[in-house]
Amino acid sequence: MAPARRILTVVSNRGPIRYGTDDGRRVARRGAGGLVSALRGLIGAHHVTWIACAITAEDHVVAAEQAGTAMREEDAAGNQFRLRFADPDPLDYAAMYRQVANPLLWFIQHRLYGDGVEPDSEAELRAGWAGYRRYNASVAREAAAEAGADAILVHDYQLYLVPRMLREAGVAAPVLHFTHIPWPEPGAWSRLPTDLRDELLEGLLGADIVGFQTRGDAARFLATCADALPGADVDPEAGAVALDGHETRVRHYPISIDPDGFRRVRDAPAALAAHAALVRERPRRLILRVDRSDPSKNSVRAYHAFDRLLERRPDLHGEVGMLALVDPSRLAVPIYAQHLDDIRAAARSVNERHGTRDWLPIDLRIGDNFPLAVAAYREYDVLLVNPIADGMNLISKEAPLLNERDGAVALSVCAGSFEELGAWCVPVEPLDVGQTSAALEQALDLPAAERAIRADGLRRAVEVHDVAAWIADQLDDLARLPEAVR
Ligand code: F6P
Repeated sequence: MAPARRILTVVSNRGPIRYGTDDGRRVARRGAGGLVSALRGLIGAHHVTWIACAITAEDHVVAAEQAGTAMREEDAAGNQFRLRFADPDPLDYAAMYRQVANPLLWFIQHRLYGDGVEPDSEAELRAGWAGYRRYNASVAREAAAEAGADAILVHDYQLYLVPRMLREAGVAAPVLHFTHIPWPEPGAWSRLPTDLRDELLEGLLGADIVGFQTRGDAARFLATCADALPGADVDPEAGAVALDGHETRVRHYPISIDPDGFRRVRDAPAALAAHAALVRERPRRLILRVDRSDPSKNSVRAYHAFDRLLERRPDLHGEVGMLALVDPSRLAVPIYAQHLDDIRAAARSVNERHGTRDWLPIDLRIGDNFPLAVAAYREYDVLLVNPIADGMNLISKEAPLLNERDGAVALSVCAGSFEELGAWCVPVEPLDVGQTSAALEQALDLPAAERAIRADGLRRAVEVHDVAAWIADQLDDLARLPEAVR
């Protein structure tokens, strides 16, 4: 039986649609990012009003036309939803995106800070935080205006302060905040001044449920609250935190993919054409890496690990190649722009050391080419997924679903997906290049029967726990909240 249609308000930085112009005419394009893809399924199944931030130039024009109302829109499948833009001051948006969310929170939560990373000046950090707070307030204002919903679903680290702001605005609908990225151990938050850390936690604790990707993330959030907030009553057994008379449940919901949707993408003309080209030019054995150019994804160590493998195994020269698909990401944030240069340099150095006229060890392709990624999913012999930390890592779910060669997966023990998929993968210790290189070798050398068993296990795990289950689990927990909160 199909679940009852609910009235839902979804709140995220990026929306399901971004507007542009083509020959002077307004066009709606698909919004970018994994979060939006995962949530898109909600639109067909429920009455959704989506609160998103105006990001493109044309988004700002649409936001001005909306003048604080929601407009009717349609997704690619013709499902209706309502879209309402928040349009914060551009300086506040920049502070949120370039100063707080992506360098600071992203780096804290992915454990990317080392002693070598320059500390920010306290004054700059506080000024950036004030922008982050105002950005959150402007999104919360639009969400509060759409509060007659059965539930409000707020997403990710750009919007940690929104749940409490909704409470303070008197919103009665239950609020679930879901964090897509890892939650680190309490000590990692020492990078933030304690008052800002506490504001962040109290912001989240305005929600009735806070959701994380893994059991470990939820446990570390509870430990952080116990550590940081002496006034909070933390119950790790029950997964609950009470603060100022309000109780927040702490749960984990591993995000997943829409298998049928992915098969449709595989069978679309663009991916079929990319596949035909790849089959013509692929090396005999193909190692695949697909990622955004993000320091947490650990591309450079992946190339170093491949370099070591080639040093040890001359028999693989000319036989094996790594296809490294890198989608440029967040280049407006200096540390990400630098990282893309590091990726280029690392791949070039492996190619200079080992390449020949007829053989390119690392085929690095920089660009946003989803059809090629999907085509490559079908073709790999080994998929290498070695992030330093990752909330889930959807590539480790998408690729095995479509693979046609019983490809092996070498998966970081620090990817959220390792909790679900680790049993079928070769484990990778992401900071250990020697171990990563040995894992690559083990994955390449797995006997055919073993590869088949593992590939089958991976496919089943993804089919059983799909994105619909991810959403259903959250809505079920919301429905179980006491009447007083619903
Ligand atoms: O899944 C993609 C993701 O990691 C989301 O968790 C997050 O909201 C988004 O990236 C942000 O990325 P961007 O810089 O593209 O807005």
